[in-house]
This record gives sequence, structure tokens and C-alpha cells, in this order.
Amino acid sequence: MTAHPVASLKNREKPTPTPLPSAFPGAEWYDDEEIQAATRVLRNRSPFRYYGPKWEGEVAGLEREFARFLSSRPGEPWPEKTDLFVTAVNSGTGALEVALDAMGVGEGDEVLVQGFMWISSISAIVRNRAIPVLVDSDDTLNMDPASIRSRVTPRTRVIMPVPMMGGCARIGAIMEEVRAINADREKQGLPPILVLEDCAQVMGAHATGAPGSRVPLGSPGIHRVGTFGDAAIFSLQINKNITAGEGGLVVTRDPALARLIEALHNTGFARDEAQPKTWYGDSPVGWGHGRRMTELQGAIARVQLKRLDSIILRMRESHGRIESFIRSLGLVPRSRADASNPGDTGYYCLFSIPVQGRSHDEQVRYGRAVADALAPFGLNPWFMHDFEVHVYYNIQSLVEKWPVHKAGPWDASAAATSLQVYDRGTLPRLDALLTSTIGINVPSRLSEADENYIRRVLAYVNDNVIQQS
Ligand SMILES: Cc1ncc(COP(=O)(O)O)c(C=O)c1O
Repeated sequence: MTAHPVASLKNREKPTPTPLPSAFPGAEWYDDEEIQAATRVLRNRSPFRYYGPKWEGEVAGLEREFARFLSSRPGEPWPEKTDLFVTAVNSGTGALEVALDAMGVGEGDEVLVQGFMWISSISAIVRNRAIPVLVDSDDTLNMDPASIRSRVTPRTRVIMPVPMMGGCARIGAIMEEVRAINADREKQGLPPILVLEDCAQVMGAHATGAPGSRVPLGSPGIHRVGTFGDAAIFSLQINKNITAGEGGLVVTRDPALARLIEALHNTGFARDEAQPKTWYGDSPVGWGHGRRMTELQGAIARVQLKRLDSIILRMRESHGRIESFIRSLGLVPRSRADASNPGDTGYYCLFSIPVQGRSHDEQVRYGRAVADALAPFGLNPWFMHDFEVHVYYNIQSLVEKWPVHKAGPWDASAAATSLQVYDRGTLPRLDALLTSTIGINVPSRLSEADENYIRRVLAYVNDNVIQQS
């Protein structure tokens, strides 16, 4: 596709609202292959992941293939050998809960998490009776590596970066910082902090750095996100890059952690033998979560996984063209973690609007006016401050510290942990970004005409609202 300089858009009349392809990247590409995969499971009357009358092991196949996929470099064949272990579960939220449980997170522990995420990133911490500790964001709107250390205490158990809306965090720098913190903790006799990457919104993206939370596992290089930390989770919910409607995946390269994750996602029994005496495993390790994926989800996700890199390529290319157009309007797109490495998926295009000199209330009115002006044109715009329970201060249950059941985690834990606050103002850098950032969705199947339409809408709203308000 050719670039369309802003000069070709002299005539800024109001564009006629025109439908765009859907904003569900994976579902948009469903065809006969997904239908056949689902039908095969139904014809076999074997929708359960561990056995059935004509069981073909779809979920087990997905686990093997996803491990190989994550070990591959973008655009290259998936290696046969991988040091990653994958457990498929029934949702991304379930994946987070199981992963934190397997990592030993419990009452009185603290988990560092960014303030721009999805509510599940926080609810999984609270459900495990631990305290969420907010870390500020950098200009990628993801966890700021430089803001981690001041939030760490002896109670910190896990750090959870949550790369948002297709854009990678500076994960290489985050891992370096964690390694430095863990070296200091070792000297103090404290256990190391583990890293859990919540990659629900960036499946298939890649970033630069060295994996490993204690020592670098190899030299810095390009790796798929979800392979930097001690564990990672992904989601297959319909907004995600590939989808089975619902579903989640938990990844680790630590065999002991993998054993716990597999056991806890099911009944709490580890399947240590190639053929356990019972289908659920023989060695009890804890209380299970009941988070098994169905064979229907597994079969559909396997087909979708083969499409993932090409879906991302489409979004990334469209995103790049829309982003340069936004720049040509004089607006500032969100920063990339690594400007020389196009590892982001391109799912959303975020840009800041000029808010200098406006009070908080004026900024909110302005941001809402911009989003409202874009909305009738079908671009799925969001003013980040209003982005529902992706924003810490919009989560009422967090701000008010609602307990799980009758008590805890805040009131049941060490007194110091209840000092955490979650009201707006806790993360000044993120707060400023949220009130100055607009996002528009980048569907995975845009035609040249669709992209021209998006440019016309952006130019029109820029002239009539962004530069006027
Ligand atoms: C960052 C993040 N974490 C976790 C989840 C939870 O995934 P799910 O909806 O599959 O439970 C989502 C998506 O919904 C998400 O965006």
C-alpha cells in the first residue's frame, strides 16, 4: 500500500460514517478450518481434555505447539525442541490465578503491578490473598523499569508487567532491574522475586533483552514476549489476537513450576507418571482450581495459532501507516519500547493530544470530546482516563479495598501492607498519560480504502475538535 501524505487530504469535509472490519483480530479470520476443527471434536464426542470415546488430544496438541511457537523467532519455522512448558486453561483470568498460586503467592505477600492493566491482573492477586502494589508507567504506558525498586519490600514476591494494547514494555530493562534487585536480596538472605508476564494483550509480540530473573539466560536478543520472566499468561478471549471465545495459556521454563501449574489448574494432583493410575494424577500438591480447557477450545486455538503471525503482520503494517499519518498531523504517538524493533502487535494506535495549560477537569472534558467526535465513525476510540477497569482508579473494589469473602487480604495481612492506596494520584506519571491519550483500534483486515477512511476521519477530527477545543 502506498503512503498517503496529509497534503492529499486538503478537502477536510466530514467523512460519511463507513463500516470497518471487526475489531476482533482472531475471530475475523475464522473460516472452514476452525469449523472443521470444532466439528471434528463434536463428531468424536470427545470434548474433555483428558479422555473420551475417540479422544485426539487437541488441548495437549495446543500446549506442545504453543511452546514451539513461543520458542520461534518471528517469521521463522517453529523449532521441534523447546525448553518451555505450557498448560492450557479456560481463561486468562484463570491462568493468572493458577500461575500466582503455583508461584507461592499468598497471604501477606506483595505483588507489584502497573496501574494500567485489566482488572483480572489485580483480581488474581487479591484472590490469592496478596496485596497489589502499584508501579508507575513510562511513556509506553507499561511498567516503568525505573519505578520498580522503590516499590519493592521484603514482602515482594512477584512482579507483574502487563504489556498493554499491543505495545511491549521495556522488558529487557525490567529483567535487568529484577536481576539487580535479586542479587541484593540474596546478600540479605531474602528469597528472589519472580516475574509473571501478563501477555494477554500481546500474544505473538517480540521484544529485546535477556530473559531470566536471577541470571541472564543467554545474551540480550529478540524473544517472544512471555519468555522473559519466570512464567507468563495469555488469553484466548474474543478481543485477543487469536481466539477460541475463552481460554488461557500458562508458560514457564521451570519444570518444577510447570508441574505445580498443571496440577493446580486441574484437581491439585500432579501427573508425574507417563500413565498415572488415575486420569487426574497421583501426587497431591495442593487444592485445585478447576480450570481445564475443553477440546473444542483447543482444536479451534490450534488453527488460530497457525494464523497468528500473519494476523499480527497485518495489524502491525496498518498501525505503522496510521501512526505516521497521526505524526504528520502534529500529534504524538505513544512511544515504542524499542524504536528500532517493530515487535509490537499494532492492535491499538495510541496518541497524545495537546493538554498543556488545561486543568484536570478541562483535560477530561477535552479527552471525552475527542473520543466522542471519533466514535460515530466506528474507530472504537477510547479516552484512556475513561478506559473502564483497565485503569486502577476506576476499579471501585480496589480503591475501596473490598475483601475476598469476609476478610482480607488487606485487613488480614501485616499492618504495613494495608497502607497501600489506590486512589487517583497514586501514580502521577500514568495519571498524566491517561488524561492526555486517545486510542483507536487497528482491525486486522483493513483494506487500502479502509485506511484512507481512517485517515480522513483523523484529519477531520483533528481539524475540528483536537486543534479547536
Ligand atoms: C491484560 C489482561 N490480563 C488478563 C486478561 C484476562 O483474560 P480473560 O478475559 O481470558 O479472562 C485480559 C483480557 O481480558 C487482559 O487484557
